Amino acid sequence: MNIKRFTVANPINCHAVVKDIKSEDITKLTKVEIEDKSLIVKLEDEDIVYGLGENVRGINKRGWIFESYCSDDPNHAQDKRSLYGAHNFILISGKEKLGIYIDCPSKVVFDIGYTNLGELKITVVDGEYNLYIINGDTESEITKSFRKLIGQSYVPPKWAFGYQQSRWSYKDEDEVRELAKNFRDKEIPIDCIYLDIDYMERFKNFTLNKESFPNFDKLVVDMKKDGIKLIPIIDAGCKIEKGYEIYEDGIEKGHYCKDEDGKPFVAAVWPGQVHFPDFLDKDARLWFGSKYKFLVDKGIEGFWNDMNEPAIFYSEQGLKKAFDKIEEYKGKNLDIYSFFELKDTILGLSNSNNDYNSFYHNVDGKKVKHNDIHNLYGYNMTKSAAEGLEKIDENKRFLLFSRASAIGAHRYGGIWTGDNTSLWEHLEMNVKMMPNLNMCGYMYTGADTGGFGGNCTPDLLTRWMQWSIFTPLLRNHSAMGTRNQEPFAYDLGTEKSVKNLIDLRYALVPYIYSEFMKATLNDDMMFEPLGFKYSDSTSRTVEDQLLMGDSLMLAPIYKQNSKGRYVYLPEEMLMVKIKNIDEMEFEVMPKGHHYFEANLDEFAIFIKKDKMLPLGKTAKSVESLNNEKLKVIAFVNEKANYNLYDDDGVSKNYKTLKADNLSIEIKYVGNDLKVETVVEGKTTIKELEITAILSNGEVRKINHKI
Ligand code: GLC
Repeated sequence: MNIKRFTVANPINCHAVVKDIKSEDITKLTKVEIEDKSLIVKLEDEDIVYGLGENVRGINKRGWIFESYCSDDPNHAQDKRSLYGAHNFILISGKEKLGIYIDCPSKVVFDIGYTNLGELKITVVDGEYNLYIINGDTESEITKSFRKLIGQSYVPPKWAFGYQQSRWSYKDEDEVRELAKNFRDKEIPIDCIYLDIDYMERFKNFTLNKESFPNFDKLVVDMKKDGIKLIPIIDAGCKIEKGYEIYEDGIEKGHYCKDEDGKPFVAAVWPGQVHFPDFLDKDARLWFGSKYKFLVDKGIEGFWNDMNEPAIFYSEQGLKKAFDKIEEYKGKNLDIYSFFELKDTILGLSNSNNDYNSFYHNVDGKKVKHNDIHNLYGYNMTKSAAEGLEKIDENKRFLLFSRASAIGAHRYGGIWTGDNTSLWEHLEMNVKMMPNLNMCGYMYTGADTGGFGGNCTPDLLTRWMQWSIFTPLLRNHSAMGTRNQEPFAYDLGTEKSVKNLIDLRYALVPYIYSEFMKATLNDDMMFEPLGFKYSDSTSRTVEDQLLMGDSLMLAPIYKQNSKGRYVYLPEEMLMVKIKNIDEMEFEVMPKGHHYFEANLDEFAIFIKKDKMLPLGKTAKSVESLNNEKLKVIAFVNEKANYNLYDDDGVSKNYKTLKADNLSIEIKYVGNDLKVETVVEGKTTIKELEITAILSNGEVRKINHKI
């Protein structure tokens, strides 16, 4: 067994792992030293530290200090230590390779050469945890073992791979209909429109604003007829209001988190004063999960769960302290220290540690302080929704993703990477975060394309889309008060470029879905650092290029006003420069460093040696895709192959039934290229239109009937 478990003190069961591994005596631990509440590993110069899922900075986490502590912080700057997720898996890769997973419900600090360049120090603040040490010869092997340990990742419906448009908020029915009409009139494909908090009656979960959405049911039906699903938001906090069913029912059944005195804890979020459902308590979790039915009965098939770190704008006690301080200092001549104290009291009202230390959960009959399980709250909200949806239809895939998360939640839903900003740096961070997210089990994921906060410029949206069309979750979302960033919010040139990219996304769905499903079902990664597959020293340090699926290497342009970029090829590859589905140029490039040019309306991808990229046609939505004829771009050296996975896209039969596989092989017979296909299960594909590019640059066209 290449995984060893060591239990320190008496940790609660986080339900993060699915394998039962017997705990070993801690004295048998090697390579890792224990010092009080910390684990210490010496780092060699060449060691790379991967992991930590959703977090700031690069793919290699060396040189900074990170905290696993789900945080509602919209300022995703380099000096931050945590974002919304707590993903405690790291992989040290050097001469020796080692995976470390800290299974723990509360704060963990990862000092990865921040204090001492040559040392990794992991501190588990409350000192109770399960430690998993994973050995293996390669990064992929260790990651796969870890992924098997934590169980198979969530699989969304296939339509969730279509383009999704969001904004805080499309305020009423007319605006939603107008938006959908705009997409359809302009023939820009779309699968989902998001409903942010304003669809609810005064931000109350599982209610509808009857004034702005008077015919909600009909809206859902009409949109669906047009191939568009509406995806409403659900927040963690439930408004305190007499007569509001969720409030009264939850109070009566005792399903809310309690304060020190056993009374429901009061905090404030969007609706004003709220109670938080106690998702750690099984009964409360099932209770909240059952409420999604209200919207499912109206035809809703997907949800995003938000504010579930949980975000707290203020609490009663915090507010009281702030008012007392103001009162105390009123009329006084404040020195600088008292002024800062006053300012910090006000600024510290939100997401305060005091608040996280003053409410409690019922964990298997035990009263547990929130801070002791903080990182499991969002996880269990996702679980709550997933369980509720499963009860409604156990074989149906719903779209579900969350803001806060911890390892374990990846089995129940995806995540989006939260409130980023319309900054070029955030496009870059989005790229770098992807492999680390995959390592930690988050496969269905993506960022708010174009950026959530701030004003997105047309060139940023275009370049961001050139990257995001490859991520499983492709959603354009932006905050209240920011400039509109729909594809048609800018000049006509930008609209055309973005439409071309969305069309291309739909053509890519066969490949993206196939790669997503194969990676998910085999516990592999879909986005990998180059160093996972190529061992040369340059590949190991490249941070802004990724391998994506079986065939591709991506090298997105993420700098403003760039008209190209440098790229490193770890082996000979085929560069495909793309303007749109019908305008692509090919160039065989040798191993090494290159510069490629790409104006704003074009970008490049790279096909690996003896690999191929299948491309379908675009369509108005995923369910209208017609892939009877596929174009295949193949870079043939000796023998190229590809296995195209498919399934019904809506049921959970993928868990039990064999998939529909189309395997394609192109090989030399003498000087001719011969195509062979094998179908397992069934396929809708009848014909392949192959463009084979040979190493010497020669292009051969082959039509192959299946
Ligand atoms: C949070 C979410 C964001 C949403 C907003 C309003 O900031 O992260 O996506 O638009 O709340 O609901």
